[in-house]
Amino acid sequence: MKNIDSYTHTRGESIYLDDVPLTQGTLFGAIFGSPAAHGKIKKLDLSAAMASEGVVRIFTWKDIPGVNQIGGIVPDEPLFAEDIVDFNGMPVAFVVATSVEHAQAAIKKIIIEIDPLTVVTDPRVARQNNSLIVPPRTFRLGDSDAAFKDCVHVVEGIAETNGQEHLYIETQGAYALPQEHGAIKVISSTQGPTAVQRHMAKVLGVPMHQLEIDVTRLGGGFGGKEDQATSWAIFCALAAYHLKKPVKYSLHRMEDMRMTGKRNPYSSDFRIGLDAELNILAYEATFHQNAGAAADLSPAVLERTLFHCTNSYFIPNVTATAYSCRTNLPPNTAFRGFGGPQGMFVIEAAIAKAAEKIGVSAFEIQQKNLIKSGDEFPYGQLAVSEALPCWNRSLSLFDHAKKKKEIEKFNAENILYKKGMSMMPICFGISFTKILMNQARALVHVYMDGSVNVSTGAVEMGQGVNTKMLQVASTIFSIDPAKVKMNSTSTFRVANTSPSAASATADLNGKAVQIACNNILDRMKTVAADILKCSATEVSIKNEIVHVNDAATEISWDFLVLESYLRRISLSESGHYATPDIHFDASKEKGHPFAYHVYGTAITEVTVDCLRGTYKIDAVNVVHDFGTTMNALIDRGQIEGGIVQGIGWMTMEEIVYDEAGRLRSNTLSTYKVPDIYSVPQMLEIDFLETKNDNLAIFRSKAVGEPPLMYGIGTFFALRNAVKAFNPKSSIGFSAPMTPEKVLMGLYDK
Ligand code: MTE
Ligand code: HPA
Ligand code: MOS
Repeated sequence: MKNIDSYTHTRGESIYLDDVPLTQGTLFGAIFGSPAAHGKIKKLDLSAAMASEGVVRIFTWKDIPGVNQIGGIVPDEPLFAEDIVDFNGMPVAFVVATSVEHAQAAIKKIIIEIDPLTVVTDPRVARQNNSLIVPPRTFRLGDSDAAFKDCVHVVEGIAETNGQEHLYIETQGAYALPQEHGAIKVISSTQGPTAVQRHMAKVLGVPMHQLEIDVTRLGGGFGGKEDQATSWAIFCALAAYHLKKPVKYSLHRMEDMRMTGKRNPYSSDFRIGLDAELNILAYEATFHQNAGAAADLSPAVLERTLFHCTNSYFIPNVTATAYSCRTNLPPNTAFRGFGGPQGMFVIEAAIAKAAEKIGVSAFEIQQKNLIKSGDEFPYGQLAVSEALPCWNRSLSLFDHAKKKKEIEKFNAENILYKKGMSMMPICFGISFTKILMNQARALVHVYMDGSVNVSTGAVEMGQGVNTKMLQVASTIFSIDPAKVKMNSTSTFRVANTSPSAASATADLNGKAVQIACNNILDRMKTVAADILKCSATEVSIKNEIVHVNDAATEISWDFLVLESYLRRISLSESGHYATPDIHFDASKEKGHPFAYHVYGTAITEVTVDCLRGTYKIDAVNVVHDFGTTMNALIDRGQIEGGIVQGIGWMTMEEIVYDEAGRLRSNTLSTYKVPDIYSVPQMLEIDFLETKNDNLAIFRSKAVGEPPLMYGIGTFFALRNAVKAFNPKSSIGFSAPMTPEKVLMGLYDK
C-alpha cells in the first residue's frame, strides 16, 4: 500500500503549519534571543522596539501568569531568561506585531547589556568543573577490572562524535487561536502534543483541558520536535492569552538553527581487551555528553547511550559510565537514534583500533563477538538475536569475499584512488527507555454509512505512521482502506499521549487501534450472530462480507454497521495499549527495558580521491531484520532516509560553535547536508523476514531509527581507505570524517 500522503505531497496540497489559512486579526511573533552565550543581564531596554511600526506588545518572563519553567526531566529551563542567559539565542523577549516584517524589524531595536560570565562549550571542561546535569550513571556486567588481567590484547583510545542539525524541512512554529471561556487552540509543529499542552498549562496557570494542541503533520521532526517544539507554542499561546488575538510564529531557518538544540556531541574514552582467539573479554567506556545549557531530554539520551554501548556484540565484562555535562550551548536533544548512535560509534572505534594493534581486520573481531540468543546485555536483558542471520546473509547475498578481493586488487593497481570497505552490524532496542511512556490510546468511530474515522496519539512526520494506522483499522475490520480516514492528532480526542518517538509510534498506537477495532468488531459480530442465528464466534468479516464458519453470507459490512446502529449498539471505541513485560530498576541498572531489538548489517564501500581528500560512497548494502514488514514501501523509505541521514552525520555535517558559544555553521551555506550527489551510488536493502516472536504491530518491527546507524559504517570504510593509502596514518576516531580530515589523514606522517 502506498503512503496515503504521497498524492497530496507531490501536488503540494498537504497541509503544514504555514498552509493553515490565517484567521482575521492574526498577529505575528518573533523571539529576541540572547546575543551572548553566558552572562548576567544588566539592562534590557524595549522602548525603541515598542515604538517600532506595527508592534503590539513585547512579552518577557514578567508576563507569565504561571511558572517560568519548561524543563521536562529536570526543572532547569526557564521559558524566558530572567537575569542570567545560558546560551546564545536563549529567548529573552517575544515581540508581537501586525506582520512578520514588523516583528523582525522591532527585534533589531531591542537594547540589551550583558555582563559576561565564563563560556564553556567543551563537555570535558564541564565535567572538570563538576557541572553535570544529573549524577553520572554506570552500567556494569561481570568484572571488567579483573577481566582485563586475562586479556592478551588491551587497547585504549578516544572517540568523538559531533552534533547534528535536525534540518527538518518545516522549521519550528505554532499558531495559537483563542477560543471561548479562556480556552486556546494551538496548531503546533510538534512530535509531542501532550508535552506542549502540559508545559503550556503550567506556564499559563490554566488546566490542561483548556488547551487543544492539534497536529495535522510535520515537515519532519527527527527528534528535534520531541521536546523543543514546546517553547514556540507557548510564546504564541502566552500572547494569545493576553491579547485575545490569534498569534503565529514560524521560525526563519537561521533562527531555528541558532536557537534550537541538536544531536548531543560526545567525547568518549574507551578501553577494550581481547584474548588470543579475538574474543572481547572486557570493555570500559566513559562518555562525556555535551548536554548544552539545560537538561531537556539529555538524561534520557545518556541512558540510551549506555543501553547501546556494546552495539550488536556480547561482551561478558563491561563497565560503562556516562556524564551529562552542562555547557553554554542551546540545550541539545533527541535526534534519530537518541544517544544509541553515539554509544555504538565508540565500540566500533574500539574494535577498529584493537584490530590495527593486533594486525587483523575489524571484520574478524566483529564476526567473532556478535551477540547470540540468550546472551546478556549489560543491562540484564537477554538477547533474542538476529545478529548472525543478518551478518551471514549479508556476506553471501552481497558476496563479501569477492568484494574484498576486488578492493584489494583495485588498491594494488591504483595510487591516486583507494577504496575502503566496512561492516556495520546494528542492534537497537525498541521501547521508550522510560517505562511509563510505553502506552498509547486510539479513538475509533464507525459511522452509520460504514465509513471509519481513526484518531490516535501518533504524529505523522513523514515516517508514514498514519498509513500504518489506517492499514491496522482496514485489516482488522477487513474493509477497503478507502473507507478509513485518519484524523489529525488532537489532545482533545486522545489524551496523555507520549511523543511520537523512540521508533515505537506505530507499535504503541497501532496496538491501541487494533484493540479499539476489535472491541467494535466483537459487538458487531454479536449483531450478525443474532441475525444469522449462529454463535458470534462463528462470525468473521472478510472483504466487507460477513462470513459464518468461513462461508460468505448475504450480509455486507455496510448493512451490518447500519443494523448495529439501529439496534443501539455503540460503534465507537477508545483503545488503550501498554507494552507488557517491560521493566527496569534504575537503582541496579538492570531489567528488561525493551519490547524487542532490531538487528541488521550494512556493508559499505567507498572510494577516496587521494589528491583531494574527497570521496564517494560506492555502495551501501544492507540486510535488515524486519520481522514481517506491514508496508515495504514505507519501510524502504525509512531505511534509505535513515542511512543517508547517518552518512551525513558521519561525513559532512559539521556543527561549529566558536569559543564565545556562537554558532558559526548557522546557514545552509556553512552547514553541508547530503544531497542527491552524495547519496551512495548503490543502496540495496534486503528485507530479511525473521521468525522469532516479537511485540511489534502485525510483527512488523519498528524501523524509524535503527537504519541511521548503518551510516556509521561509512566512517570506518573511509578510514580504511585512508589507511590503504597511508598505513602509518594516525587518523583517529573523530566524526565527521570531512574531506579535510581525510586529506590530513592521507598525508599524516
Ligand atoms: N522519517 C521522516 N520522514 N521524518 C521524521 O521526522 N523521524 C525519525 C523516524 N523517521 C522521522 C522519520 C525519528 S527520530 C523517529 S523516533 C521515528 O521516525 C518516529 O516515528 P515512528 O515511531 O513512527 O517510527
Ligand atoms: N527514545 C526516544 N525518545 C525518548 C525516549 C527514548 O528512549 N525516552 C524519552 N524520550
Ligand atoms: Mo526520535 S529521536 O525518538 O524522535
